[in-house]
Amino acid sequence: MSDRRVLLIVGGGIAAYKCLELVRLLRGRGIAVRPVLTEAGSKFVTPLSLAALCEDRVHTDLFSLTDEAEMGHIQLSRSADLIVVAPATADLMARAAAGLANDLATTLLLATDTPVLMVPAMNVRMWNHPATQRNLATLRADGVRFVGPEVGDMACGETGPGRMAEPAAICAAVLEALSPARGPLAGRRAIVTAGPTAEPIDPVRVLTNRSSGKQGFAIAGALAALGAEVVLVAGPVSEPTPAGVRRVDVETAREMLAACEAALPADIAVCVAAVADWRPAEVSTGKTKKVAGAAPPEIQLVENPDILATLSRRADRPALVVGFAAETETVEAHAQAKLERKGCDWIVANDVSRPGVMGGTANTVSIVSATGIERWEEAPKTEVAARLAARIAAALDGDPA
Ligand code: CTP
Repeated sequence: MSDRRVLLIVGGGIAAYKCLELVRLLRGRGIAVRPVLTEAGSKFVTPLSLAALCEDRVHTDLFSLTDEAEMGHIQLSRSADLIVVAPATADLMARAAAGLANDLATTLLLATDTPVLMVPAMNVRMWNHPATQRNLATLRADGVRFVGPEVGDMACGETGPGRMAEPAAICAAVLEALSPARGPLAGRRAIVTAGPTAEPIDPVRVLTNRSSGKQGFAIAGALAALGAEVVLVAGPVSEPTPAGVRRVDVETAREMLAACEAALPADIAVCVAAVADWRPAEVSTGKTKKVAGAAPPEIQLVENPDILATLSRRADRPALVVGFAAETETVEAHAQAKLERKGCDWIVANDVSRPGVMGGTANTVSIVSATGIERWEEAPKTEVAARLAARIAAALDGDPA
């Protein structure tokens, strides 16, 4: 761990004193710690104690001319292998979840692409409040990891969840977060699209496809389980975010494409989403009213961008681009044609005419590539996902489908 660096953001809570012990433990493991102290944090620990223990200067002010000259805040946000926020107060969590950048700490959290570990500490009612729980869910969906809080007595005299984790537990979580991901896809980046898109007709009506998102979410989770860094671009579905996956929620095909392009470069793209092929040419700003006896409104459609084809044809395309084909007849012939039309490497052909596939938990698929067709037995969607992730890992290691 001797070359590892942590950026430690110390928030304003009584538990901040535990950070001094945390710094000692991390430094004992050879991990360099660069401290950032929020204004509220400085009421609980002094910059001098932190600087002395970290043997580094403490960054406190977003508008410090000296700091910006030596190391801009953007660079500071990326100068570490891990950002640890301890204590992560209810306020800090709320601002980070909302994407605010109104002090150095939140600016760093917004500007970084480094993994973030938060260590919440707050009063039990603040922790249990729906607002904090909403923020927790948002941050988790953004890929933030958490350690604690623990249940116990608190400085305010109440008991329950909210106590900051002990320094030894935080240190263990830091070590785990810093260990290089294991698995055959460690170091690989993947983009997965999942769910339907919803194309607005007017403020209350949408044009959409049937899709539960189950298969795409399972694939995102399976790729992450093999060590890949996964961005899951999801249309409107109610599936929980798989562990270790960064989720970007979108509504329309155009938003889905923009989110995928923003997630490049990647080694793998798996387009599972049931993208609406067309969208209404015009979206009315007011609700279209039904007039009794009058002819129904006519909706003019225009074609949506094809995300799979766009990703496949970009100069910086992922090394392996996989599409899905939901077909009801001559499944494999259609898949072959789709492979060429879209320019992707594999098509996972899926016979949706079989009962129970749409919205169900099992799938029967064939993998169609330039070199042939692999037919898989019917299996639960999670198993299809695990098998596909393993197949992808093998292909990137030189074993073509
Ligand atoms: N796809 C996409 N963007 C679109 C349409 C489809 O990325 N605008 C992707 C899907 O995610 C899937 C694959 O293309 O991986 C095939 O989708 P499908 O709906 O079966 O194909 P279509 O192109 O719509 O062709 P058709 O309707 O003729 O079957």
